[in-house]
Amino acid sequence: MELINALNWRYATKKMSGEKVADEKVQQIVDAAHLAPSSSGLQPFEVIVVSNEELKQKIQPIAYGQSQIVDGSHLLIFASWDKYTDERIDAIFDHMNTERGLPLDNTDDYKAGLKAQLFSMTEEQQAAHTGKQSYIAFGTAVAAAAMLQVDATPMEGFVNDQLDELLGLKAKGLKSQTILTLGYRATDGDWLQGMKKVRQPKDKFVTELK
Ligand SMILES: Cc1cc2nc3c(=O)[nH]c(=O)nc-3n(C[C@H](O)[C@H](O)[C@H](O)COP(=O)(O)O)c2cc1C
Repeated sequence: MELINALNWRYATKKMSGEKVADEKVQQIVDAAHLAPSSSGLQPFEVIVVSNEELKQKIQPIAYGQSQIVDGSHLLIFASWDKYTDERIDAIFDHMNTERGLPLDNTDDYKAGLKAQLFSMTEEQQAAHTGKQSYIAFGTAVAAAAMLQVDATPMEGFVNDQLDELLGLKAKGLKSQTILTLGYRATDGDWLQGMKKVRQPKDKFVTELK
């Protein structure tokens, strides 16, 4: 399936069938998120994959009772760093240089400039910046699921603090941003299924400067 066909096929599924998505497909969707670009390659977020039924049941009320939380087989929870730290940034660059067989001080000048820029932000601004990076991977995962004909519901409809508390994210310096439920559309009971996909007129969306 070509990307545009896949994006037309997908919709924000409101009712899942309960059928399990194969682990291999879940891994491919996670891999796509993992390969998403991020500012300076910092990847300042993590993905938590939840398939445990009891845990999904605990998450459902936090997500305003949305049924896809329990009827989907997996939840991908995108959680971003609460702030930037020297340790976090150094670890990313050390890893990058080691993987590329380069000396650890290879990126010192760039890193110093980057840190000056990031640490000039308030912690709130830093958290907003890391959150934005997580959305790029989230969107990539949405597209990857569609390519695999796995249904998905992108979600912001949950109480972030309560989810962070349940999953112990605060202690890890993480803040939940989004949930992507993975599963297969139910044959009935989904009000959105079969409805026309509606987007704003293209001429309002795109400006071409030639
Ligand atoms: C960041 C984000 C948060 C969303 N939150 C929810 C949600 O909590 N529950 C839900 O059913 N749909 C949610 N949606 C789905 C949107 O309503 C949906 O993507 C949009 O109406 C376009 O429809 P389509 O995805 O079916 O093409 C969310 C989508 C995005 C991108």
